[in-house]
Amino acid sequence: METSGLDQVYLVTFPNLPMFEDKLSRIREGLTFDDVLIIPARSAVEPRDANVSTRLTRKISLKVPIVSSPMDTVTGSEMAIAMARYGGIGIIHRNQTVNSQLLHVNRVKREESIKIRNVHTVDPETPVSEARRIMKEKKIAGLPVTSGEKLVGIVTKRDLEFAGEDVKTVAEVMIRDVKYAREEIGIDEAQEVLYKYRIEKLPLIDGSGRVVGLITSKDITTRQRYPDATRDEEGQLMVGAAVGPFDIDRAVHLEKEGADVIVVDTAHAHNQNVMESIRKMRKAIDCELVAGNIATKKAAEDIISIGADALRVGIGPGSICTTRMIAGIGMPQITSISECAEVAEGQNVPIIADGGIRFSGDIVKAIAAGANAVMIGSLLAGTEESPGMEMIINGRKYKSYRGMGSIGAISAGGSDRYGKLGENKFVAEGVEGAVPYRGKVEEVLFQLVGGLKSGMGYAGAPTVDDLRKHSSFIRITSNGLKESHPHDIKIMTEPPNYQLFQI
Ligand code: XMP
Repeated sequence: METSGLDQVYLVTFPNLPMFEDKLSRIREGLTFDDVLIIPARSAVEPRDANVSTRLTRKISLKVPIVSSPMDTVTGSEMAIAMARYGGIGIIHRNQTVNSQLLHVNRVKREESIKIRNVHTVDPETPVSEARRIMKEKKIAGLPVTSGEKLVGIVTKRDLEFAGEDVKTVAEVMIRDVKYAREEIGIDEAQEVLYKYRIEKLPLIDGSGRVVGLITSKDITTRQRYPDATRDEEGQLMVGAAVGPFDIDRAVHLEKEGADVIVVDTAHAHNQNVMESIRKMRKAIDCELVAGNIATKKAAEDIISIGADALRVGIGPGSICTTRMIAGIGMPQITSISECAEVAEGQNVPIIADGGIRFSGDIVKAIAAGANAVMIGSLLAGTEESPGMEMIINGRKYKSYRGMGSIGAISAGGSDRYGKLGENKFVAEGVEGAVPYRGKVEEVLFQLVGGLKSGMGYAGAPTVDDLRKHSSFIRITSNGLKESHPHDIKIMTEPPNYQLFQI
């Protein structure tokens, strides 16, 4: 059959015409916290027995799956100490100089050291007056006595207290039959030794008999006060620190100072330059590296492939975020978590769901969607331990809280997380405001974990991993959402956890 000239033109040119498909015909739907509920299941789990421990990164575990966000109104050393003591972890914000951030990390690491390093020692010929002076100045109650670096005794405040005028040197009062242990001794074993010999100090020695550490019963007692605390092998509290995606030097310094995990803090980690830099950072440090933020399966794949030990998931769900308004970009958080988790689970990489948690029920939903832990800003910004400013509004106490992409945060620290388009030219992606004062971190975590355990009871999930793998969701309508909150009542008494979630 003969073809017309016109047909030929079409045949030749049509395949090269730019295609513009009807994108909406294949559009997917994204869901967030208020769109879903977890379906109750047959359960043999009592909430009090639910085990909420989890993995933060490939190597770090937490007893409580909650992380405080690296924001300048949320996490400084005080918050990080409280978070670690009660089983979570805090990530020190980066909206400050390197030196100031190092100081915060150092404070957390020094807060409770079960194995004291850099031990002060004296030799047997040290005058008693000098030993007394060292103890007073360093605020310590005992000194190992060494001769030619070898441990030969120990002298305590009590030994010196009763030493008469005639006693001149440490050698005359020190205890010679000193109990000691090898430096690798575990904390539990050390505790047994201290108890068995009714002693308060246990020097630690290395292979050649040099004193390289000290464990005191006082520090062990502190440890018992916080049984869920997140600690490193030395018994020190664990802490994370945020760095900008291109700040490899800062990451190296923070690791040297003792940071246990470095969190690459960027609004869009799935960016070619950012990923290149994360790859370099991965090689420059040995500690755990969390990268984010991301929101899609493809980003999860790519970020895992460059060596991240955990993914920070969430673009735009945060209470202070305006990214979705300003840039039109984002993913509803439950869908985002679920997508990323599908990829990450196969690679054994944990997911930290970041942003948008308003109630303890949101934590249960985030984990049921696949998160291993959640990162929180707003709910923790109102606590005693946050660095935010306190204020009274209409007779009620508040604390300041602001997005790291807000004008205030950007101009305070030159944060490059969001919208800096030139010298003093910003396109903000966050707002500044205040959240109600919510008491101590301990109280807030108690309520959040209580809600999580309750959810695990309903879902029949004895562990966080069970909740992640074996729970199912139902999608709800706006009527379902209305039904999910108190309705048709004038509330006269609000329980503390209900109050906690009010603004
Ligand atoms: P919540 O909801 O817990 O969220 O207050 C805290 C998380 O929000 C992110 N974040 C921002 N996102 N603009 C944004 O779009 C901002 O200015 C901003 N500041 C913080 C961040 O992931 C944080 O953990």
